[in-house]
Amino acid sequence: MDYSRNLKALPPYVFAELDRKKSAAREQGRDIIDLGIGDPDRPTPKRIIDKFTEAVNKPSNHRYPIGRGSRIFKEAVVKWMEKRFNVGVSDKEVMCLIGAKDGVTHLPLAFVNPGDIVLVPDPGYPGYTSGTILAGGVAFPVPLTAEKDFLPDLSKLPEELLRLTKILWLNYPNNPTSATADYPFYEEIISYAEKYDFIVAQDAPYSEIYFGAPPISMFQIQGAKQHCIEFYSMSKTYNMTGWRIGFAVGGEKIINGLATVKENMDSGTFSAIQEASAWTLLNCDTEAAGIRELYRRRAEVFSAGLKLLGYDVLKSNATLYLWVKVPGNYDSMNFCAKVLEEADIVLTPGIGFGKSANKYFRIALTVEEEQIHKSLERLKKVKI
Ligand SMILES: Cc1ncc(COP(=O)(O)O)c(C=O)c1O
Repeated sequence: MDYSRNLKALPPYVFAELDRKKSAAREQGRDIIDLGIGDPDRPTPKRIIDKFTEAVNKPSNHRYPIGRGSRIFKEAVVKWMEKRFNVGVSDKEVMCLIGAKDGVTHLPLAFVNPGDIVLVPDPGYPGYTSGTILAGGVAFPVPLTAEKDFLPDLSKLPEELLRLTKILWLNYPNNPTSATADYPFYEEIISYAEKYDFIVAQDAPYSEIYFGAPPISMFQIQGAKQHCIEFYSMSKTYNMTGWRIGFAVGGEKIINGLATVKENMDSGTFSAIQEASAWTLLNCDTEAAGIRELYRRRAEVFSAGLKLLGYDVLKSNATLYLWVKVPGNYDSMNFCAKVLEEADIVLTPGIGFGKSANKYFRIALTVEEEQIHKSLERLKKVKI
């Protein structure tokens, strides 16, 4: 018995060695501070849990969920797009997802044939590449560099490549760099999508974790819908990673493609979760603002402390991450191994997000401020 060609083509898991060292340190009883995982440390706000408890007690919610999402959830998404971005969409242009990851990894199955190109950001969330490979496509990394504000520069790509491209992945606010994108950038990207007829897939699970002007939607740009799909999530906005719910908004043909894949694969998110989430989207701006402020504050405290220690920290505009330059002659993997060894702190090496990021590491701001101060104290011991 052999694994499929596509499965065998998935990139190796680069964190294996670091994970082994982390487990070994824990087994030795060392007090590890884990700044590796982008999973909110605080619980889901109580009002959302209460709404869910109400919803779970309704027998109508105990049956199979409806394919693209319940009426109540889709209506809430339509209203949220209007409220948040002043964008009008119909319920045929939205669908519920089992988190943004569900949409990210399944979209290529609807549009990519063997050998087709999918442009993926480097550094970037691994799901863009793995979803492409599992669909038989070719993931082509597009570097995001500090000089270009971590935005892809399509003018550097050959015409033949753009002609073979089916999907361009964007992710703003960006994991891992925390960069954001603006109107002129999206306008330019959409003109490329029109010229070369590809889909722009904008993965936006951090849309509500921002520290300056609120990020915009591509649909604020005239004519975007035909070529674009955006992925939103409840995970980070409301500390709901475990609930598994997000949604896609996009042109009807693109949504129909993704929905057909999913109708053949899963039966959607539990209806009680959809009901509680629908209510949350329309009633929990205060909770979202509190969570945003929490990360803003943590980013500020951690960045200031790191700078005092001599680290080159990029300005954090959004997300739950800090993107920091690896000091001296280290590469990202051996520097993170050194920090784990000498300071009992887990960081994420940039190489895990792509080849162009080997001189960076990522810090997840998912620990309380007291732990941030403790981390800074420990980092004092690490010679850079
Ligand atoms: C860029 C990006 N996309 C998607 C996801 C997955 O989000 P969800 O929990 O909505 O599946 C994450 C999670 O960390 C992410 O960083």
